[in-house]
Amino acid sequence: MILVTGGAGYIGSHTCVELLNAGWEVVVFDNFSNSNPEALARVERITGRKVNWIAGDCRDRAALVAALQQSKAEAVIHFAGLKAVGESVEKPLSYYDNNVIGTIRLLEAMQACGVKKLVFSSSATVYGDPVKLPLTEDHPLSATNPYGRSKLMIEEILRDLQRSDSSFGVSILRYFNPVGAHTSGLIGEDPQGMPNNLMPFVSQVAVGRREFLNVWGNDYPTIDGTGVRDYIHVMDLALGHLKALETLEAIYNQQDRRFFQCLTVNLGTGQGYSVLEVVRAYEQASGKSIPYRIAARRPGDIAACFADPTRAIELLGWRAKLGLPEMCASSWHWQSANPKGYQN
Ligand code: NAD
Ligand code: UFG
Repeated sequence: MILVTGGAGYIGSHTCVELLNAGWEVVVFDNFSNSNPEALARVERITGRKVNWIAGDCRDRAALVAALQQSKAEAVIHFAGLKAVGESVEKPLSYYDNNVIGTIRLLEAMQACGVKKLVFSSSATVYGDPVKLPLTEDHPLSATNPYGRSKLMIEEILRDLQRSDSSFGVSILRYFNPVGAHTSGLIGEDPQGMPNNLMPFVSQVAVGRREFLNVWGNDYPTIDGTGVRDYIHVMDLALGHLKALETLEAIYNQQDRRFFQCLTVNLGTGQGYSVLEVVRAYEQASGKSIPYRIAARRPGDIAACFADPTRAIELLGWRAKLGLPEMCASSWHWQSANPKGYQN
């Protein structure tokens, strides 16, 4: 049994599908602040398996202890948190409260219940403005906004905890840019209000919810002047979590706790695409035209960011398999079948 915090969210729901398909039982712990229980009903439809869930907040230690005890979970995947960079600048305390305090409460609950395996959602944002590309895990860490700083703080807390208690097995997964959806079109990314990220914005233009895309800057030192990112299919990302969990299990079962450590791994493809390359790929996948306008650079944006995925291949035996056409096609399948997301 795996406790999945934030399991009703975008990445969590897709990961639940892969966990259930691999034979794990899951219990989702989510306060539904940025998600809908409907996503979990759909995970049940996709997998034909039961999804247990608890409406609870990660800042509530007692609720987490009860969830861990009742479910007899042996490991936790911790997705729960707030993730909008701009909002984090306006509401820093809310980000440190949800993300940092929420993680501390979870770790306390895990310690109290003797649950010592954790997979944590970190982000490529912890590399700050890249000094060198592709990004390897030993690249210097920094943060430029409260969201990124909350991830960096949590990473440090996890490293300190693991140093203090070698029986704690932690996997820190640094995601690059997750996009796409499950092939069923039943679950996908459903941002509330104006999407912050490129692919959901493009998909809403394609489906007619928005008139045009603003391309934030075309004067970067990149292939066509627009920002380059390492987009990764959310189903590949989901499988990365499964591999991280299995790797922690394997180390644990060897009974050799010397090897228990923070397994810090990039989850990216290693391939960068520009904004205009994504727009063209989406037009091809959807058969729709995506009108766009070139606008000023978005404050805080970087020119390019892509992973060196070698460590994930070596340590987890995982590599991303799906390319940009599959990312766009699955995103379009979800968006065209659910123009208003889970509110349909
Ligand atoms: P999401 O918002 O779709 O999912 C997060 C889930 O956590 C939601 O279901 C929300 O209701 C829940 N939640 C938030 N605060 C909570 C709290 N205090 N207690 C309980 N539940 C809470 O986001 P996502 O895209 O699925 O991201 C999942 C994780 O991955 C986050 O930690 C995010 O920071 C990280 N991440 C996401 C991206 C990305 O681009 N999507 C990139 C890098 C890292
Ligand atoms: N972009 C546009 N127009 C838009 C939205 C985005 O041109 O409407 C451009 C951006 O300028 C950037 C690229 O598309 O060049 C990707 O932007 P996203 O906002 O989709 O992604 P970011 O790489 O900026 O940030 C995302 C998450 C962060 C996370 C980071 C690394 O929002 O939280 O990926 O994982 F830290």
